[in-house]
Amino acid sequence: MDTNQSINIIEVGPRDGFQSIDQYIPLEKKLEIIDGIVASGVQQIEHTSFVSPRAIPQLKDAKELTEFCLEKYPSIDFFPLVPNLYGASSAYELGLRKIAYVVSLSKSHNKANINRSHEQSFTELKKIIDAYPDMKVSLSLATTFGCPFEGKFNTETIVNFLESYVKELGIDDIVLCDTIGIAVPNQVREIIHTLKEAYPYVNYQGHIHDTRNMGMVNTLAAIEMGITDVQTTLGGLGGCPFAPGASGNLATEDLVYMLNESGYKTGVNFKKILEIAKYEKQIIDGTYSSHQTEIQYDF
Ligand code: COA
Ligand code: ZN
Repeated sequence: MDTNQSINIIEVGPRDGFQSIDQYIPLEKKLEIIDGIVASGVQQIEHTSFVSPRAIPQLKDAKELTEFCLEKYPSIDFFPLVPNLYGASSAYELGLRKIAYVVSLSKSHNKANINRSHEQSFTELKKIIDAYPDMKVSLSLATTFGCPFEGKFNTETIVNFLESYVKELGIDDIVLCDTIGIAVPNQVREIIHTLKEAYPYVNYQGHIHDTRNMGMVNTLAAIEMGITDVQTTLGGLGGCPFAPGASGNLATEDLVYMLNESGYKTGVNFKKILEIAKYEKQIIDGTYSSHQTEIQYDF
């Protein structure tokens, strides 16, 4: 194992974290938090979603936030989550050239989350790729490790699901999301091993929620399987309002600590990321309530 290698810390808190907070966080506070994230050395940030403001009211300021981010930090890799062509067009028009397109491995979660069948989600992505061939698309595969409505899936099901995305649409970047935080390290290793064999040219990213305190071991397992892109949230905020039981993600500051102290190169300053995590906590604690609920599926 090479602990000298570089790991890209991809901060998804301004999207996955904030979407789980009910009360609107003022735009200037969001920007202060993004300032702190950038100051710590993070280079890639999922800064918002272009989704229906009725579905996620917290992210209704996606356009303004994007304008500020692109203007202030032209060299930072900002990308939003989008569920459809509408969202992709909004992102493109603002100058973004990278999106995370979300689809759930679970039919029920895909329906609950974005009100679409698997076929509709696939067709919609094809429309996006046809309309914007210069847009880099990474596929955020929600519920890869299990779903609150359908339980866990066979690894074969994941391979089969992804085939048309990889072979027909040319998707070469896939985020393996443990949306409700139920993975264990052996499952992480098995899924990554099988996917790498099936589609060796795809870059796989890890995105692990921390429901059972498995975030760190699962992320480390992914890294030891060769994953170099890992998504985390500042302060461990996070959760999907449409997945009962989805709790916070692995905290960015904790992962940075573990990796830096182990000799990996993250390029992120631990003290600075901890400082902004504490500031975020001050802003959110006491003032904001989250969607987080007890996990419902009995694993
Ligand atoms: N951004 C902003 N508004 C959007 C939008 C987008 N990407 N996509 C659709 N809308 C608007 C439409 O304009 C329409 O508005 P109107 O009622 O004022 O005319 C309304 O939303 C409904 O559009 P429709 O295409 O029928 O959507 P829907 O009701 O079937 O919902 C989604 C589908 C995808 C828009 C919605 O489920 C959604 O935004 N989900 C996101 C969930 C999410 O972010 N989950 C957490 C991340 S994993
Ligand atoms: Zn998530």
